[in-house]
Amino acid sequence: MSVVGSPGAARGPGAAGGSAPHEAHPAGNLAVAARGLTRVYEVRRGVLRKPGRLQAVGGISFAIEAGRTLAVVGESGCGKSTLARVVAMIEPPSAGELLLGGVDAVHAAPTERRKLRKTAQMVFQNPYGSLNPRKRIGAILEAPLEINTTLDAAARSERARAMLAKVGLRPEHYERYPHMFSGGQRQRIAIARALMLEPALVVADEPVSALDVSVQAQVLNLMADLQRDLGLAYLFISHDLAVVRYLAHEVLVMYLGLALEQGAKERIFARPLHPYTQALLASTPGLAGTPRLQRIVLKGELPSPLDPPQGCVFSTRCPHAIARCRDERPSPRLLDERLVACHLAENFLESGHTADRNPGLRSSQPSL
Ligand SMILES: Nc1ncnc2c1ncn2[C@@H]1O[C@H](COP(=O)(O)OP(=O)(O)OP(=O)(O)O)[C@@H](O)[C@H]1O
Ligand code: SF4
Ligand SMILES: [Mg+2]
Repeated sequence: MSVVGSPGAARGPGAAGGSAPHEAHPAGNLAVAARGLTRVYEVRRGVLRKPGRLQAVGGISFAIEAGRTLAVVGESGCGKSTLARVVAMIEPPSAGELLLGGVDAVHAAPTERRKLRKTAQMVFQNPYGSLNPRKRIGAILEAPLEINTTLDAAARSERARAMLAKVGLRPEHYERYPHMFSGGQRQRIAIARALMLEPALVVADEPVSALDVSVQAQVLNLMADLQRDLGLAYLFISHDLAVVRYLAHEVLVMYLGLALEQGAKERIFARPLHPYTQALLASTPGLAGTPRLQRIVLKGELPSPLDPPQGCVFSTRCPHAIARCRDERPSPRLLDERLVACHLAENFLESGHTADRNPGLRSSQPSL
């Protein structure tokens, strides 16, 4: 992944020759490129009041190359699943560009859209809910082929059996029903189904959050193996930073629909520059190799997305906020090879300041 506009996706936003997100999409083997993706909902607030405007995703830009993973992190309600649905073409953006395999997915004609949908497949958190309990696994895996290809029954069955093996399931599982599997096995089936149409991009929304920790590791290893073997690009959504650190190449930190920090995983984990990223990292103890960050009190509630703060969206909870933060919204800018949307980010970089050196901050756990 790279921020859209960087010349080599593997190099990240601040690499030599790196460029800002408003520039043209780079050519190359990009599975997906998004620019200014926005999704707004009209929300009813009672009979007498006019509908509110809820911006769930507000101008997100990124690109993911084949074989790379962009992880999206942030608190509940920050817009992760909405972004996932828009990228997987389950719902349209209100504004912005989405290119799948270099093709404009927003303005595509219906036949083209149907083709594009096959290239971006989704894996959900709850595999049981997404698998038809009345169908055998073989039929579940073959359904996408039946709808989207001209393969005959024998060829479909052969493909389904080969996919079962690829995701670590046994031949006899072909005849079984979803309730006969463990949670981890069901998620393997959901992954297998997502791969039946040979997509370039898999959008995985909290795919291991519902699994036991030991099973999580197995499914994550499977995803890593499949990515390596098939050159898959992943848009990987997770609130678990340990999981993100394992699988991601690049990270996008979201808050109230906006990108607050975005860049190579190593950069962000080694030296988070946005106070919100610092708070998230500090709330995950035992992340080896990350700086010792004192836990930051995230004061107050997450603001309502129907009435976000005027200036910096994080200003109501940020321990470093100054007057300017409440008046002026910081635009993301390149700093230390990542994008960061904070007026004071340079100060943190220059002084090597992260939350661990601020004695005024108390310990707390932000609820992800
Ligand atoms: N269909 C919808 N209509 C109205 N508002 C919506 C709709 N879908 C999502 N929202 C709102 O958009 C915001 C983002 O929701 P979203 O589900 O994308 O967050 P999330 O980051 O995935 O949260 P979680 O971690 O809890 O899954 C929330 O305020 C949510 O209430
Ligand atoms: S802009 Fe101000 S309020 Fe926002 S994160 Fe930076 S210091 Fe905090
Ligand atoms: Mg979600």
